[in-house]
Amino acid sequence: MAQLIDGKALSAQVLQQVAADVALLKADYDILPTLAVVLVGEDPASQVYVRNKMKRASEVGIGSREHLLDAGTTQDELAQLIATLNSDPLVHGILVQLPLPAQLDEDSVIASIHPDKDVDGFHPLNVGALAAGRDTLVPCTPQGCMIMLNQVHSNLSGKNAVVVGRSNIVGKPMAALLLQANCTVTIAHSRTQNIESLCRQADIVIAAAGRMALVDATWIKPGATVIDVGINAIEIDGKRKLVGDVAFEAVSQVAGAISPVPGGVGPMTIACLLLNTTRAVTRQLA
Ligand code: GUN
Repeated sequence: MAQLIDGKALSAQVLQQVAADVALLKADYDILPTLAVVLVGEDPASQVYVRNKMKRASEVGIGSREHLLDAGTTQDELAQLIATLNSDPLVHGILVQLPLPAQLDEDSVIASIHPDKDVDGFHPLNVGALAAGRDTLVPCTPQGCMIMLNQVHSNLSGKNAVVVGRSNIVGKPMAALLLQANCTVTIAHSRTQNIESLCRQADIVIAAAGRMALVDATWIKPGATVIDVGINAIEIDGKRKLVGDVAFEAVSQVAGAISPVPGGVGPMTIACLLLNTTRAVTRQLA
């Protein structure tokens, strides 16, 4: 049976570090690190994510401001709010929850956030800095996956890593971080040929395709490490349940280590968001 990579326990360690950083920023600079979360519309999944982020923030002593905007908000109205948050010295991090309603252009919204307040690491300057291997604000989910991998592997150098999925939020930054850690990285996606045999050669598989139970036991080399980024809501016997992109029961018979859903990547993502908020403060002090 595979070792379980417990994202809940590991995120508690990260949050403890964040709380210590928050206390230092208060003691040394009299700063209350503050995160502004912007939610446009009433998507129920997004509402849950935002609520969880704010709850965790307050637990580690990070201040938060919630901006709930009407689903019909215009590009100009959102731009005005972001401009106000950009110039507010008491706001250190800005997160605009995605996806946005169809009338809003996500790319220009992301580009309007000040790069030093971009706690998602989605701004083109931060994306470029990560691609170039420079120190920057890094997307939260891949960052959380790296902390999980470092729990299992004392040295990632030379490992074959396959990232299944090529999103801007997970797949692409994940590949960049693995490359920075000297892995040999392959990005697989819906058009990839022989994806199963490709994965079977990997020491590390990151499943971030957004397809339930896509990764099966036959995809996995015995002893490999499997990180499941998928969050798929299903209903069984009238009960709502979250499952990942990995067929957990079957794969855990083959893998050396595996992260569960829920209780895996999800809590790590939130912990890294709060870690990025304290890092954003440091960047604004510099
Ligand atoms: N929607 C789904 N994941 C994310 C994320 O990491 N950040 C933001 N802002 N929105 C999301």
